[in-house]
Amino acid sequence: MRLVAPLLIVLAVGCAAEEPPPPVGPRIAFGRDFEGFTGWRAYPLPDESLTDGHLSSPSRTLYIDREPPPEGQPFELGTIVIKTIEEGPPSEWVVHAMVKRGGGYNPDGAVDWEFFDLHLEDDEQVAIAWRGTGDDGVLYFDPTTGDRLACNSCHAFGGELDYVFSRAVFYPAE
Ligand code: HEC
Repeated sequence: MRLVAPLLIVLAVGCAAEEPPPPVGPRIAFGRDFEGFTGWRAYPLPDESLTDGHLSSPSRTLYIDREPPPEGQPFELGTIVIKTIEEGPPSEWVVHAMVKRGGGYNPDGAVDWEFFDLHLEDDEQVAIAWRGTGDDGVLYFDPTTGDRLACNSCHAFGGELDYVFSRAVFYPAE
């Protein structure tokens, strides 16, 4: 015990000095969770991006990993939405994703959602290029203005849509 007690004190002091961990929610996505997404429910997006927030292209597609919630309802925890621009081989596609991670993650932006940029290998394996809130310096390049913007700088304003701007494509007019 005489040796263990000081060791515990050193460990406790070491831990106390560290930043508190980010809030952990029930759904932390990994590369394998995105695999096979081109086989999920797919919705073509209009060629032109709303507000020029993302590149415009005739090959823009929105994918979701499960049945979307009824209109106006929040997305289930764990929901993955992916937006692609599918030009050239898969390794050249632009692939953005959002995962409803929950746990109050991203409290100053798209609350409960984590952002991802993905990279498809030629063999269709999915690599995570980066993940997080984007508030730590990972910025989105807006090709129309040349500005560098955090994902949250736009998506934080989509609260009443549960932060999924293009969710209207899930509910085609009857
Ligand atoms: C300049 C504003 C802006 C920025 C910055 C931005 N987005 Fe978006 N995002 C949009 C808009 C508007 C849409 C709606 C679809 C469209 O018009 O392309 C969208 C759509 C999406 C979608 C499909 C789901 C949805 O909301 O419709 C994903 C996924 C996405 N963005 C991820 C990201 C990620 C990841 C980043 C940061 C790397 C990012 N966005 C940065 C404006 C923005």
